[in-house]
Amino acid sequence: MADRPYTLLSCGISLDGYLDGASEERLLLSNDADLDRVDAVRAACDAILVGAATVRNDNPRLLVRTKARQDERVARGLSPSPMKVTVTAQAQLDACADFFAADETEKLVYCASRTVAQALSSLGSVATVVDGGEPVDMRWISEDLCARGVRRLMVEGGGTVHTQFLTAGLADELHLVVAPFFVGDSRARRFVSDGRFPWNPDRRATLAEVRRMDDVVLLRYALSDRFRMD
Ligand SMILES: NC(=O)c1ccc[n+]([C@@H]2O[C@H](COP(=O)([O-])OP(=O)(O)OC[C@H]3O[C@@H](n4cnc5c(N)ncnc54)[C@H](OP(=O)(O)O)[C@@H]3O)[C@@H](O)[C@H]2O)c1
Repeated sequence: MADRPYTLLSCGISLDGYLDGASEERLLLSNDADLDRVDAVRAACDAILVGAATVRNDNPRLLVRTKARQDERVARGLSPSPMKVTVTAQAQLDACADFFAADETEKLVYCASRTVAQALSSLGSVATVVDGGEPVDMRWISEDLCARGVRRLMVEGGGTVHTQFLTAGLADELHLVVAPFFVGDSRARRFVSDGRFPWNPDRRATLAEVRRMDDVVLLRYALSDRFRMD
């Protein structure tokens, strides 16, 4: 079996397990202390992956924010921020989204075979479009990223993507930040969809760390024997 990057899943959830609210407006689950922690985790990774719905809904920049962390990466011969990666079947992504902004980071779009031509035409000037097959398989993406030199991958959601990494046994570590409020609306996106997860009442995940950061808490789980505490 080809190798895959050490893979860390990261997200914030409400007390009732939602990734976002049900309205168009982006819900802030994190706080300043946690945003700084996420920045440090990003800086230590080679690539950051999000689903296309997150690119469309949240318009994230996915860059390392702190100058000192960018400088430290550059001193190591790296780009200031990790490679950005997304995955899509529909290829309905806006080339003007912040994800595709003209910064120094490499951008990869894994696209289902049937829409590759469309993706190349709309995104080919701002990203590398990769034919991901039909359907696009997260294990194949992981192995392809590894072949491109990605040794440490951070997956920042959303729920569809997290579900696939978890159910396929592709996650080595999970960072779950719990915000101190409820969403209380089942139209909102849950952390994961239905699925067969390797962790269940008979096989509990290992809680590796609990960290309080002002009013949120980080729950860090070791999900594979590759997990290492840093
Ligand atoms: N709280 C947090 O930390 C956090 C983090 C990230 C996101 N979010 C929230 O999560 C929500 C989005 O989550 P989501 O679950 O709806 O979407 P998502 O996981 O961000 O993206 C799902 C989309 O990714 C593409 N995709 C995923 N797997 C694929 C596969 N195997 N093959 C081809 N394409 C694939 C498809 O794009 P196409 O539709 O283009 O085909 C699919 O519709 C947003 O509301 C966002 O705010 C929260």
